[in-house]
Formats: sequence, C-alpha cells, structure tokens
Amino acid sequence: MDSIRIVGGERLEGTIPISGAKNATLPLMIASLLTSDTLTLKNVPRLADVTQLGRILGNHGVDLAIAGKRPGQRTSDGQTFHLTARDVVDTTAPYEMVSRMRASFWVLGPLLARCGEARVSLPGGCAIGTRPVDLHIEGLKALGADIELDGGYVVARAPKGLAGGRVAFSKVSVGATHNVLMAAALAKGETVIENAAREPEVGDVAACLAKMGAEIEGIGTSTLRVQGADQLEGTVHTVLPDRIETGTYAMAVAATGGDVLLDGARPDLLDNALDVLRGAGVEITASNRGLQVTRNGGEVAPVEVETQPFPGFPTDLQAQLMALMSLAHGTSTIRETIFENRFMHVQELARLGANISLEGDTATVTGVEGLHGAQVMATDLRASVSLVIAGLAAEGETVVNRVYHLDRGFEQLERKLGACGARIERLSG
Ligand code: EPZ
Repeated sequence: MDSIRIVGGERLEGTIPISGAKNATLPLMIASLLTSDTLTLKNVPRLADVTQLGRILGNHGVDLAIAGKRPGQRTSDGQTFHLTARDVVDTTAPYEMVSRMRASFWVLGPLLARCGEARVSLPGGCAIGTRPVDLHIEGLKALGADIELDGGYVVARAPKGLAGGRVAFSKVSVGATHNVLMAAALAKGETVIENAAREPEVGDVAACLAKMGAEIEGIGTSTLRVQGADQLEGTVHTVLPDRIETGTYAMAVAATGGDVLLDGARPDLLDNALDVLRGAGVEITASNRGLQVTRNGGEVAPVEVETQPFPGFPTDLQAQLMALMSLAHGTSTIRETIFENRFMHVQELARLGANISLEGDTATVTGVEGLHGAQVMATDLRASVSLVIAGLAAEGETVVNRVYHLDRGFEQLERKLGACGARIERLSG
C-alpha cells in the first residue's frame, strides 16, 4: 500500500490549479442514467472515486468514453467524459459496489424514474458515522414510489412512473436532495423539495438537469420547484471547481506560511470558510484567476467554529481546520454537528504533537509551539489530508499511510504541493 512521505517546514509559494469538484462529478455522472442521449461532462477530476463510479455505472449500461488529450492541454486540466445510457441493462446496484462508495446509492432515484424499478443495496455505516438513508426513501415515496427493504436492499417500484409531489426534508441532506431532485426531473408534474441542501454541488446538478430539459426554480435556495420532463436530453456541462480542495490548500498555506494562487478557485463557493481563515489571520484576495492566499510570518489566531450545512462551515473542512488550529496562538473550539463520529484525525494529529481534547461533539484545540513528524494513518479522506497539512507544517519527517483515501478525493496532491516547494513524495509499497 502506498504512503506519502513529507519533510515539513517549507513555505508554500506558487500556483495550485483547482480541479473539478468530486462531490459534483459523482451525482452528475449518475444523472447520465436519466437519458438515452449522451451527457458530456467537462472538468472531471482524475480520482479513484470517479473511476470506481464509472465501473458501477457500466454495470447499469452506461457507456463511458473519456476524450483524449487535446493539443495544448495541461496535465492539470480536467478530463472530458461522454456518458451514454442508451439502454439501462440492470436496475440492481449490488452490495459489493454500493458498500465501496456511498454516493453510488444515489442511482436509486434515477433508475426508478427511468425504469420504474430499482434494487439498490443499503450502503451501511462508515468511518464517520451511521449515515442512514431514511430521507432518501421518504423523498422517493412522496413521488409515488413503493419501497420496501429486502435482505439489505432497498427495493423500489413505480410501474406507472413517478409523479411529482411535495417533499419536506426533516433534516438537510446533500445525498437525499440529489436523489430526489434527479428522480423529480423525470417525474410527471411538479415536485417541491423543501429544506433542500443548498450546497453548490446540488446547484451544479440542478443546472445540468435544467439543461437536460427539466424546469427547475429556486436553484441555490432551500426550496426547489421541479417540473419533470417526459424525456430528458443530453447536454454538455462543466463541473464546478472543488471548494473543499480549495479550502484544504488554503489551510495548508495558512499552516506553513507562504503565498499561493489557487488557480480557478471560486470564492463564492466557500464564503464562510474564507471568513474563518481571515479571522485566523490569513490574507485572502479574490481575483479573476482565483484566490491568492498569503500568510507571512504572523501568528495564526484561534477560532470558534461549528460545522453547518451550506452556507455554513463545511464538515468536509473540519479536519483540515483542526490541523491548522493545532498551531494557533491560543485555544480554539470546533464543533461537528453533521456527522457524529468525524474525529478520527484527532488521535493521529496528537501523534504529531497536537493538543486536542474531545467532549461529545466538540473538540478543544490548544495551539502548540510546533508539531513534529511521525508515522500516521487515517481512515477517511478529509482526515487523511488534515494529516498532510499537519505534516507540511511539522518539523521533520511524517509518513501518512493508507494513501488510497487521499486518492479518492485529491487529484495529483503530491504534484500540486511539490510544485509549490513542499517536500512531499509518494512511496510505493
Ligand atoms: C455528502 O454526503 C458528501 N458526499 C460528504 O462528503 C459530505 O460530508 C456531506 O454531504 C455533508 O456535506 C458526497 O457528496 C459524495 P448528507 P451525504 O446526506 O450526502 C444524515 C467527502 O469527504 N442523514 O448530507 O452522504 C447523515 O447521517 C464526503 O467528500 C440522515 O439522517 O451526506 C448526516 O448526519 C464525506 N438520513 C447528515 O444527514 C438520510 O437519509 C448529512 O448527511 C441521509 C442523511
């Protein structure tokens, strides 16, 4: 299993290109199930999760063609995917697939809408919490689906097709919003989704569905009104930039000190996180190229943050912020309100010398003078990258094991950081 070796202490200087968002790419790829035409996605990142979903969709009959490199294209430019589900050949998503990637559960709504039936394995728990799917099921039932659980599978039927309905989510869920939104795009009549997730990735999927022929009002708000189409058409859509990758590199610069242009980053996608970083003493300037992030010597100030659905501070940046706050001048509190067990990075950060105490959903982080390198390992994507940030700022050598977590969500991590002066390399083994 590969690992990443970092020798910390270098300032980061230069330019980091921001990739297309993983968490928009995955549902956009799934949206290809809704039409027999070709859906072309541009700016697709090279990530293990994207490859894996391509395989999963292949089982349902989606033909994926990846466009070759064009002259003048840089290695950092995203890929172009052509996805065509001429015929859906299988409406079952088996356990072996769904258990490997939770987002693949989102095929449920599109398969049901297009084929009138779907049998999708329950995704099960995972390292960051129990993560149930009750909201997905309630939402699809409101569109007329008949749903039962059978041997670990969600079995959904709508022999006469789905019909629009009113879905009022009791809790904000990104995945349930994607699932119901995609199904509503092919349901008969109007669906109103209340308390919808407002994450930019939901907006990106809605914008793509609108180009495919669904009428959608309220994109970017918590009430989505969808007029379903009898048939959806193919379109061309460019995946929006990855706000979590952007925030992650901004925190890396904040932790090490330095001056980096995050090329292609969109500040409007991470408003609150940028405010938090500014509050911590990091200089952030938006330009038409992206975001310039600078910290020259000054101390990192402590913060008080709680994770919230968008536009609040994202749970997907909580671990990275904790790595940064380990070096702050003072005590920070970080409360995780989205997932009940997303603190796997705490004990690993402690191996690097961080001083963090946990009580319930709140971490108290007392900044230390400096971190020191160690062998570490993490069990989820964002936790792993928080260890990379801490390793970049630590004195000496850090080895982050189980790199496959990073490969799921960060494109060319070593190359991007290495180009800005970080001493970072992949060790194969
Ligand atoms: C998406 O997961 C993201 N994944 C996650 O990113 C992200 O952390 C999360 O949204 C929150 O922003 C992708 O986009 C692929 P949720 P999702 O449904 O959709 C509860 C990463 O690192 N809930 O918004 O699975 C749930 O348990 C990943 O890229 C129910 O109770 O998250 C949680 O507490 C990790 N019932 C909360 O809602 C349900 O039916 C929010 O989860 C569904 C969810």
